[in-house]
Amino acid sequence: MDEPVKKFLKELTPYPPGKPIEELEREYGVKNSIKLASNENPLGPSPKAIKAIKESLNKINRYPDSKGYYLKNRLAEKFGLPMADIILGNGSDEIIKLATHAFVSPGDEVIIPFPTFLMYEKNAQSFQGKIIKIPLKDFYIDLSSILNAISEKTKIVFLNNPNNPTGTALGINEISYFLQSIPKEVIIVLDEAYIEFATEKNIESTIHLLESCPNLIILRTFSKLYGLAGLRIGYGFASKDIINVLTLLQQPFSTNYIAQVGAIAALNDNKFVKKTLALITEGLKFIYSQLNTMGLQYINTQTNFLMIKTPISSKETHERMLKEGVIIRSMEDFGIKDFIRINIGLPEENERFIRTLKKIL
Ligand SMILES: Cc1ncc(COP(=O)(O)O)c(C=O)c1O
Repeated sequence: MDEPVKKFLKELTPYPPGKPIEELEREYGVKNSIKLASNENPLGPSPKAIKAIKESLNKINRYPDSKGYYLKNRLAEKFGLPMADIILGNGSDEIIKLATHAFVSPGDEVIIPFPTFLMYEKNAQSFQGKIIKIPLKDFYIDLSSILNAISEKTKIVFLNNPNNPTGTALGINEISYFLQSIPKEVIIVLDEAYIEFATEKNIESTIHLLESCPNLIILRTFSKLYGLAGLRIGYGFASKDIINVLTLLQQPFSTNYIAQVGAIAALNDNKFVKKTLALITEGLKFIYSQLNTMGLQYINTQTNFLMIKTPISSKETHERMLKEGVIIRSMEDFGIKDFIRINIGLPEENERFIRTLKKIL
């Protein structure tokens, strides 16, 4: 008898998450570890979110509002969009999956820049899409090569702006031209998970292009700027028709009550947002200056993380760092052998990272 598991599933490999601190300490017997591997907010969650969550705990005997009315309403107000153009997800990860599920049949082509956030590829594999990888050009997403790669079989193009893991970002004019040039039958999933961190003037969200691009899905998250990665809540914008299809494929209660309450409070926490952005700016200034002094090459970033070239392999750097209780990301996970990626931490974490890097190199 044939095995019950579908054959193609045997070729899938798991997503490599950043190592949790508790796991590192258990495995390596180290203490006081720090994690700079998952682009999380080092300040913790938004205090307003914590307060609202605490106050809402006595309601978790009830199922959450499956439509997420109050959160969508707040997002609609903030971004000037109709509520019908908004979807909530169990992290933006869920919306990546819903979009792939909705639009990719076995053998359909999915265009993915390389390297970029790994979940696009993982989802395309799960739905048996044919992945077309377009290498970055000088660490930037190469839109003209992506345009050239589009065929009649292309169903989705995934774009991440700014891009994880490089931290590089494309300007709004370039993206706008690309969106206008692409056939309307091709869905563009434009993941703006880090757009709030971008500081260059011409780097901005494409929300204002939604109306003229019926094939555009924009993704955003509460996991980074708002410090709510553990709550698992993200959101997306698209035409009402696309939102309706994605919602059909979704579990009714995929964003839980606490996540919805926390997200609304976080959206209203301007003080926390400002504090986070200032911390990242200061942290980057420090890291850049230290790397310059050490003579190490890095890629200028528009995000809360950056890639650094190391004289030994990234795998080795990663391993040596773990032994010192510092969790970073080896870019080998992304197919690059001589870079590591770190996110900006608290000042003392940034200092510890630099100290440890000097020691292990
Ligand atoms: C580019 C990008 N998109 C999406 C996500 C996932 O976000 P969420 O926590 O909302 O699922 C990440 C997380 O690292 C990311 O880097």
